[in-house]
Amino acid sequence: MGQMRPATVHDVPRIAEIISSHAELGKMLFKSFAQLYEDLRDFAVYETDGDSPRVMGCVALTIIWADLAEIRSLAVDESARGQGIGTRLVQWSVDEAHRLQIRRLMALTYEQRFFEKLGFEVVRKESLPLKVWSDCVRCPKNDNCDEIAVVRTLQDIPIIEAPKAIPTPRGVSIPVLELEQD
Ligand SMILES: CC(C)(COP(=O)(O)OP(=O)(O)OC[C@H]1O[C@@H](n2cnc3c(N)ncnc32)[C@H](O)[C@@H]1OP(=O)(O)O)[C@@H](O)C(=O)NCCC(=O)NCCS
Repeated sequence: MGQMRPATVHDVPRIAEIISSHAELGKMLFKSFAQLYEDLRDFAVYETDGDSPRVMGCVALTIIWADLAEIRSLAVDESARGQGIGTRLVQWSVDEAHRLQIRRLMALTYEQRFFEKLGFEVVRKESLPLKVWSDCVRCPKNDNCDEIAVVRTLQDIPIIEAPKAIPTPRGVSIPVLELEQD
């Protein structure tokens, strides 16, 4: 067994290694060291117990809006798959969403069955806020995205009157489309 804990700077090379091994197969986006340091506060890792603990999985939860957070960079070391670590990583994200009081979790993924087992439903990608697509410019597939969007609503978190995107002082507004209703 092992445990989940927040990531630290010491974990960045290992997180990069795990993500890269899947990104090379086209299953997820590469993350540069610069991106990992910048987003490190979003990250948690799964670490094995014992005298020489080893990070075997990682996940990031990014806040998109008042009622939506995105699971990103979810990855389990190839040698440790099928042992429930992916489930632990998603459960950490659910716990974190509870702490933050964010009612909906989403992911863009090829692992539809894995997410469905964890209570996520497939939704039309067009139903997600445009802000979600900010990473697409960095994706080699860009306009030919074949990932599936999955959403899970945490029913015990109260519905929040989510603010609409309003123009900032510099006149920039973040476009937000409506999510489909529950
Ligand atoms: C998807 C991933 C995170 C799953 O991690 P894992 O530790 O193997 O998952 P778990 O052991 O917790 O599996 C949970 C359940 O999902 C099932 N499952 C996992 N991957 C599956 C798949 N590709 N297809 C069907 N079922 C799958 C398991 O069999 C298990 O079912 P069970 O509870 O009936 O035994 C891991 O395979 C991975 O790192 N994939 C590559 C990166 C990726 O695609 N990430 C998603 C980006 S959002």
